[in-house]
Amino acid sequence: MIDKKIEKKKIIVCAPATVSNVGPGFDIMGFALDVVSDVIELSISKTRGIIIKKITGDGGKLPYDPKLNIASVAIQSILNKYKIKTGLELKIHKKIGIGSGLGSSGASAVAAVFALNKLLDLSLSKKELLVHALTGEILSSGSFHADNVAPCLYGGFVIARGSSPIETLQIEYPKKLYCSLVYPAIEIKTSEARKILPKKIPLGLGVEQAANASFLIAGLITKNYKIISSSIKDVFAEPKRAKLIPCYDSVREAALLNGAFNCNISGSGPTMFAFSDSLMRAELITKKMELAVKSFRIKYKSYTSKINQNGPVEIIEGKSNENEKNHFVSSITKKAKSQDIDEIIFGINTKNNYE
Ligand code: HSE
Repeated sequence: MIDKKIEKKKIIVCAPATVSNVGPGFDIMGFALDVVSDVIELSISKTRGIIIKKITGDGGKLPYDPKLNIASVAIQSILNKYKIKTGLELKIHKKIGIGSGLGSSGASAVAAVFALNKLLDLSLSKKELLVHALTGEILSSGSFHADNVAPCLYGGFVIARGSSPIETLQIEYPKKLYCSLVYPAIEIKTSEARKILPKKIPLGLGVEQAANASFLIAGLITKNYKIISSSIKDVFAEPKRAKLIPCYDSVREAALLNGAFNCNISGSGPTMFAFSDSLMRAELITKKMELAVKSFRIKYKSYTSKINQNGPVEIIEGKSNENEKNHFVSSITKKAKSQDIDEIIFGINTKNNYE
């Protein structure tokens, strides 16, 4: 049992959205985004156990039962392991669309374990937090894959393999890599999107996917945009899942015609992402992808983002944040000074056409 004198009573943490799979890296790679995050408020309470006090931004979809909620399940996993009896109160603010393909459940789980670690001063490593965050994530998708949780927790571009033990590695990438994203208003549950996948893969396709994944990583490390472009291809899931997104072909075409390196589904969709190498180009691509979704009369959200290098961060109300350099974090912190946390609008380049 970890028994330390606890000085803090409350903590607020945000954890970023992520793009997983990134084309050929089905279940094994992902990167964190700079423009949208889930927020967790965790406080010490006199009542035993975990109480979920408030959930916002979920449209009533998420459970208040701590045994069924991803964030509390992830926290409980740590409490169980270290036989911690501290009572906890949790508020969850969903900013990342549920079923968006942007690692929404993973971000809540990561924010929750990161917050607990800091609040109770547990000094657990990120490697250990990853395992506990994944117990929450498994509840949501019904399978074990760290391609959202790992980049969310570590920041940057991360590859992951295995389950017990799980190995992760942060990969270098060109710092000028920008990501355009559109999130059409269609909900796709990861568990459902996995059911339509083939149970067996022909050898030739397995080889092609492995080659594309290897080339993508090599392209990122060597900052070779040509190789990055030609490697973002998924022969496992995309051919099946593209059919779940009515505007898939149009969005992809819009991105490619306007200079994107490539365009693919983020995670299990429906969000689609496209890489390019300048902010101006990325903003143009985002606009063109938006138009493609609009032409289907589907509502959408869109983002233009760099890769987030920080992972989860504590939001300190009324104080400047240690990660002030990051425009995303500083914009949150500034707003946190003057507004209720529910009102914080994330990101500099976010458009919301959902309402
Ligand atoms: N890699 C998962 C999938 C999604 O494509 O089903 C996110 O973990």
